Amino acid sequence: MTESQRPRILIVENEPQASEILTRWLEAEGHECVLVSDVDEACQQLEQDGFSALLADIVIAEKSGIELVAKAKEHDPDVAIILVAPSEDHHKVIKLLKMGAYGSVMKPLDQDEVTITVAHAVERRRLLLDSRQTQQHVKEEIQARIARMGEREEHTILRLVWAAECRDEATGDHIRRIGLYSATLAEALGWDQQQVDDIRLAATMHDIGKIGIADGILLRAERLTSEEFAVLRRHTEMGARILAGSEVPMLQMARDIALCHHERWDGSGYSQGLAAEEIPESGRIVAIVDVYDALSHPRVYRPAHPEEEVTAIMADGRDKHFDPRIFDCFLEVKSKFQHIRKEVVPEGVPS
Ligand SMILES: [Fe+2]
Ligand SMILES: [Fe+2]
Repeated sequence: MTESQRPRILIVENEPQASEILTRWLEAEGHECVLVSDVDEACQQLEQDGFSALLADIVIAEKSGIELVAKAKEHDPDVAIILVAPSEDHHKVIKLLKMGAYGSVMKPLDQDEVTITVAHAVERRRLLLDSRQTQQHVKEEIQARIARMGEREEHTILRLVWAAECRDEATGDHIRRIGLYSATLAEALGWDQQQVDDIRLAATMHDIGKIGIADGILLRAERLTSEEFAVLRRHTEMGARILAGSEVPMLQMARDIALCHHERWDGSGYSQGLAAEEIPESGRIVAIVDVYDALSHPRVYRPAHPEEEVTAIMADGRDKHFDPRIFDCFLEVKSKFQHIRKEVVPEGVPS
């Protein structure tokens, strides 16, 4: 809430003489006064605009004191309510102070007592607003820094993964797409936001173990012998070794994905021959999106498959290669994958 230069004081008073005197004293101190004579009018005023303090005659306030204090606090928790009361009404003042009123001034009114009490109330409110503004500023600054750190971390990982894999035909775009597809699927499966953010990065590292595979095998265009294929398959374990041992959840997930993204639902995959839910869900997600991306993009030895063909080829793997539940979810959100492929990650260097 912005505070005008002149603190605004709402005076709730039905005695003309007291109203006139309070207004005169407070305006002489530089305050702007708004005068009302009952609780309903006071509530209307509180709804419309911000006041630094509210001076309420105890006789009026007492009738609907609970309503006035509650309404004032509801509209602006920082507004200071000062009760104007004859000294014999001390116990009534105490009752309203317990409900959240800030203070009181006694009748007959004393100019110093009124102006000092109001000045303290105005100052208290100014300090509260300042401190709230500072807290808000610090909170926004921290959030902005976290966002910058997250962005820096993501860009660094993408470039390092790309550097590790650029001997292969994998491109920076492939790596980004795998991250985004995996996050889309995880979100559709109901993962929480933190895990969705984690898999967006973790999935990009699925083939990081290829850094340990010799060029002669990794880049061979011809069919690999069974011995060579066995060597290539070791990229899963190598990747897991590179990523193991961290306490960072995102890296623990990346390790699972690196190790398990070639496992198959029916247990016929590698490197451990895990089946069904023995395979971490993150690995089952990446198994689907990695095949989708490979089929929907050209390879040196074949063009890209059209979208319907990709789906038909992959549907054969439901229940065998792929977790059927995740595969069905993939079919439901596949239009988002197409959007990522065409709009979010057009070919080029990762950004
Ligand atoms: Fe792989
Ligand atoms: Fe891949």
